[in-house]
Amino acid sequence: MSLLTVDELTVTFGGRGRKETRAVDGVSFAVDQGQVVGLVGESGCGKSVTSLAVMGLLPHKGVTLGGRAVFDGTDLFTMNPSARRDLRGSEMAMIFQDPLSSLNPVVPVGVQVTEILERHRGMKGEAARKEAAHLLDRVGIPDPTRRLKEYPHQLSGGMRQRALIAMAVACAPRMLIADEPTTALDVTIQAQILELLKELVDQEGTALLMITHDLGVVAGLCDEVNVLYAGKVVESAGRRELF
Ligand SMILES: Nc1ncnc2c1ncn2[C@@H]1O[C@H](COP(=O)(O)OP(=O)(O)OP(=O)(O)O)[C@@H](O)[C@H]1O
Ligand SMILES: [Mg+2]
Repeated sequence: MSLLTVDELTVTFGGRGRKETRAVDGVSFAVDQGQVVGLVGESGCGKSVTSLAVMGLLPHKGVTLGGRAVFDGTDLFTMNPSARRDLRGSEMAMIFQDPLSSLNPVVPVGVQVTEILERHRGMKGEAARKEAAHLLDRVGIPDPTRRLKEYPHQLSGGMRQRALIAMAVACAPRMLIADEPTTALDVTIQAQILELLKELVDQEGTALLMITHDLGVVAGLCDEVNVLYAGKVVESAGRRELF
């Protein structure tokens, strides 16, 4: 059985007098442990909405979900909300497309990373701080000890994105959803991040759902690819077949 199975997922916005839009229209795919599955397709085809639905991060109001998403045998859409919150950030993590809106602007980056290590990996004090610096170093942030003391607005866009990746990796999730994680980064850093993600998959057996526009990323990383168009999977193939 796959770690994550998404079956005939639909996401509809609006209703109650407002015009309805079906952003996701019957999407099915599965991700196994240690596997990288790509979700590709043009802007607006439903990639981010699909991943937010799986993570349980869509607003409750004005959104109707259909179909099923099952993680390790548990139905995500019917599970109890507090258990789902626990799952998020420990077993399932997401790297968001928009890094500035997902970091807390009034908390130093280091505190945000060490909090995760304390909460999800039971690390304390100096050990957590050391690991946080190590993680920042792994995602290619120079002078990590200094950066840890800074606030998100003091970091460049690319560094913020890398800090978010460090945070997602920090909790050692079994499932990682990465929504265009490297789009904002320059080519060398991109390569470094992709290498890090590959390492996670190969060494820790992390399941990775990779959302991207970049066919080079697909070629270098994905075992399977689903092509979305207007909320539907229009093509689904192993990497070799697709190319
Ligand atoms: N909160 C919302 N309310 C209404 N419609 C929404 C909402 N969020 C997204 N949509 C619509 O859902 C569709 C899918 O959006 P989504 O963000 O998933 O696209 P995407 O494939 O991630 O695109 P991109 O590559 O540009 O990130 C779009 O038509 C978008 O306008
Ligand atoms: Mg998107």
